[in-house]
Amino acid sequence: MWQVPIETSENYINFVKQCLTDDALFSNFKSNPHYNSIVGMSAPWQSPHFYMGIKQNPVVMDKFKDLIKNDIYGGTPNMGQVDSYFVSPNTLRHIYTVCDIIKHFGNLDNKKISELGVGYGATAYMVKTMSPTTDYYLIDLPEVKEFATKYLNHFDLEVNSSEPPDAVDIFISEFCLSEFDDKTINEFYTKYIQNADGVYLMMNLHDEVRKQNFIQMMNYDFNLEILPEYPVTHWPNYIIVGKK
Ligand SMILES: C[S@@+](CC[C@H](N)C(=O)[O-])C[C@H]1O[C@@H](n2cnc3c(N)ncnc32)[C@H](O)[C@@H]1O
Repeated sequence: MWQVPIETSENYINFVKQCLTDDALFSNFKSNPHYNSIVGMSAPWQSPHFYMGIKQNPVVMDKFKDLIKNDIYGGTPNMGQVDSYFVSPNTLRHIYTVCDIIKHFGNLDNKKISELGVGYGATAYMVKTMSPTTDYYLIDLPEVKEFATKYLNHFDLEVNSSEPPDAVDIFISEFCLSEFDDKTINEFYTKYIQNADGVYLMMNLHDEVRKQNFIQMMNYDFNLEILPEYPVTHWPNYIIVGKK
C-alpha cells in the first residue's frame, strides 16, 4: 500500500489525470503544488554539486545540451545558471543519476532497463537521450505511466508501458520504495528486483529496522554497495547498488 497521506495522493492522481486531457495544465505541471508535493523538484543549492559530478563524465558532457532540454517543457521551477548553461536543479539531479548509473554499470546501449516510480519520466529522458537503443520499461500507476509517456513523446522518446520482462539488465528506483508498506515492498522485490542483473536504488527508507531488513533481503541475491547520497542533504538518504 502507498503510505502517502490520502489527500496528498488524491490531489496528485487527480492532477495527473487532468493533465492527460488538459494541455494548458500539463504545460506547467512541474510548478503545480499538487504535483510537486509528490514528485519533488530539487533545490537550487544542489545545482553546483550535481554539475561538478556531471563534469567528471566527458561522454555525458558531450550530450549536455540535449540533456538540459528536459527543462523546456512543463513550467520548470528554480531555473538558474551553471557555467554558461541555464538549467534547473531537478534536471541536473537526473543527469547526475544517469552519470552514477553509467559509473556503476557502464554504457547503457541496448540494455533492458525498468524503473519503478517514474515521476514524469526524467530519468527515462536522460537514459534514452544518452542511449536511444535502450529498451526502457515504466512501472507506475496506469495514469502516471500515461503521463510520463505523454511527456517523453514531446521529445520523440519512446518507452514501454507494458510489464517489463522477468529479467532486466538494470532495475532503477529513486525516492519511491519507502513510500510503501513492507508487504508491498516485498511484492515489488519479488516481481521486479530479484531477477534483475543490476539494481540502482536511491533510497529514502530511513527506519533503521526496515532498512536493515531490506538490505538483508537484497544480500541473498546481490553483491551490494551502500553509498551516501550526493550531495548529502539533511535526510539520511542512501544509494544501493546491487550486482549479481
Ligand atoms: C516520490 S515520487 C518519485 C518520482 C521520481 N522517481 C523522482 O525521483 O522524482 C514516487 C513515485 O511513485 C509512484 N507510485 C505511487 N504508487 C505507485 C504504485 N502502486 N506502483 C508504482 N509506482 C507508484 C508515483 O506515481 C511517483 O511516480
